[in-house]
Amino acid sequence: MSTAVRLRYLADHPEVVDELADWAFLEWFRGAGMTWDDAFERMQERQRRDDLPLALVALEGRRPTGTVSLLRTDAPGAGAVACLTGLYVAPPWRGRGLGRRLCRRALVESRRLGWDRLALYTTDHEPYYARLGWSRRSVTIVETGPRLQVAAFMERPVTGRLPSARCSCDPLRVRC
Ligand SMILES: CC(C)(COP(=O)(O)OP(=O)(O)OC[C@H]1O[C@@H](n2cnc3c(N)ncnc32)[C@H](O)[C@@H]1OP(=O)(O)O)[C@@H](O)C(=O)NCCC(=O)NCCS
Repeated sequence: MSTAVRLRYLADHPEVVDELADWAFLEWFRGAGMTWDDAFERMQERQRRDDLPLALVALEGRRPTGTVSLLRTDAPGAGAVACLTGLYVAPPWRGRGLGRRLCRRALVESRRLGWDRLALYTTDHEPYYARLGWSRRSVTIVETGPRLQVAAFMERPVTGRLPSARCSCDPLRVRC
């Protein structure tokens, strides 16, 4: 029988920081000319519950299956915003709604911490986020390590009713 996937604060699971750093390094940091230590340091900083930066981890038993982070950043023409970053679902878990569930939980966490909207930058996943209800506000240039890239700046309000996120990787179909 499969075990439910639970979403937890990384702060409560320091034992998985290394694995999350592996994912971030292979997915983003290495391509940007940054080191594994850079990725590890970023994940270490995100071990918080009541302040940003904060990371969440999806766990099946003790095994991490996905992650998402929230940072505080300055956005073009918008001042300080909470920003979703580092959304990652381990390959065997993709296409089962876990990314959607992590995004929804990021919205819930932003609201809990007093933000009225959540932002993100994406260089190549605008259609994915648009499908989840995010809207593009502008196109901008982002610095990824030494590289400059064109990115969509997208936002979502976190007030009001949030969409439900049922996920086929959770046998109990728990809403989160
Ligand atoms: C992008 C990623 C997080 C998606 O996670 P996932 O768990 O497979 O996504 P979900 O199953 O929740 O997909 C939600 C919806 O988006 C769709 N979708 C999935 N990947 C998509 C993509 N690349 N582009 C557009 N739509 C996509 C799904 O079909 C699903 O639609 P549906 O509800 O109509 O069936 C995952 O592929 C990943 O970790 N990729 C590597 C890291 C990455 O690129 N992160 C994003 C950085 S901006």
